[in-house]
Amino acid sequence: MLNFQLSMPTRIIFGRGEVEKAGAEAAKLAGKVLLVTGRTATRKTGVLQRVVSSLEEAGVEVVVFDKIEPNPRTHTVDEGGRIAREEGCELIIGLGGGSPMDAAKAIAAVALSGHPSHEYITGNKTGRWKELLPVQEALPVMTIPTLAATGSEANSGGVLTHEATKEKGGIGGPALFPKVTIIDPELTFTVSPEYTADGAVDMFTHLYEAYLTGEEDAIVQDHLTEGLIRAAVENGPIAVKEPNNYEARAALMWASTLALIGLAGAGRGGSFPMHQMEHTLSAYYDISHGRGLAILAPAYFKRVAEDRPHRLARMGRNCFGVTEQDDKLAAEQTIIAVIEWFKSMNVYLKLSDLGIKRESLAEMAEESVRVGGRGMGHIAATRDLDIQEVLAIYEDSF
Ligand code: NZQ
Ligand code: ZN
Repeated sequence: MLNFQLSMPTRIIFGRGEVEKAGAEAAKLAGKVLLVTGRTATRKTGVLQRVVSSLEEAGVEVVVFDKIEPNPRTHTVDEGGRIAREEGCELIIGLGGGSPMDAAKAIAAVALSGHPSHEYITGNKTGRWKELLPVQEALPVMTIPTLAATGSEANSGGVLTHEATKEKGGIGGPALFPKVTIIDPELTFTVSPEYTADGAVDMFTHLYEAYLTGEEDAIVQDHLTEGLIRAAVENGPIAVKEPNNYEARAALMWASTLALIGLAGAGRGGSFPMHQMEHTLSAYYDISHGRGLAILAPAYFKRVAEDRPHRLARMGRNCFGVTEQDDKLAAEQTIIAVIEWFKSMNVYLKLSDLGIKRESLAEMAEESVRVGGRGMGHIAATRDLDIQEVLAIYEDSF
């Protein structure tokens, strides 16, 4: 196990009906808030109105900013930042999936600093992110997730897309940890089968990335990771078929929070190659992040099966019911088992199914290595994924 430091400062309020506490919690932090949310879902499901009412009843003044698109854009974040400043908001609340929560964090940073948000994006060509990250100062943030996927509700990261340059990358820092998150699994009952499945794949990926690429001697982390993967594997298909199954929704919600809160990966090191490769796809084609991850996984796992078969075999045995004793054979069976799991949630697809053009694969591979490689010329994984390797994974996934 590697040495590590871990801070998980976000207070977590979890459970059925807990969204009603939004007002009381916000009132402890601010008199006026910017409530950042998506363009459709929270209004349609009524949760936006519930949160607004709760805030108003607690005497908190609310400015609603409901323009966040899935894969949030820097220009939208900048507009939110301007409004937060002009209105004198003291707290930014992110209500929705990862996109509104990430946008809320970025708004909290730019409202205070006045910097355009695209300069914060890791790997951005301007190079400004090297001075701006990690974010040390921002307005306080509160999150209320309505979708189980990213873990953004209790971590210090966000992901933004700068449309003009097709750059998608992370922004993060200690100031972006939400002060409090209210996780009410009932808010996820209305998530479509497609986004439910994409979310399960996203949390699964957050768990296996470091598990496969990082330090192998990390016993506690292995057990934590495998337990959380099992929760996603078992409950993803249940929630896809039974949207109102509270226990399945609660399991997915809690697993997704724990998957990316730093806990399972502490002392592990490792890298996030799948995320680097996927972020470029969603930057170019505006696809769902979890869907892109599902499509790339089989081709990526084929490389892992060659490089570290014992790790993939272990995941298969402990999370997917693989019984084969030989590591190489077990690794291959794990890939098949993962594909079966994807099929059970209708996310076993190819890039061509999403309208991605073969002609753009080479450019995306180059961009992915540029942003994800941070000057090294490759993305770190179980092997160095240079442009040719990334292109080969894209082509295998086409
Ligand atoms: O468009 P709106 O109205 O927001 O509706 C959303 C959106 O269309 C809808 N939705 C959300 N909650 C719902 C609902 N529909 C019905 N009922 C509900 N309760 O679902 C769609 C997808 O929402 P989005 O927020 O985009 O999804 P997700 O949570 O998967 O977030 C994806 C974004 O997070 C980033 C991704 O790259 C992507 O930009 N990530 C953030 C991370 C982080 N902060 O730690 C890590 C992740 O790896 C990821 O990269
Ligand atoms: Zn992810």
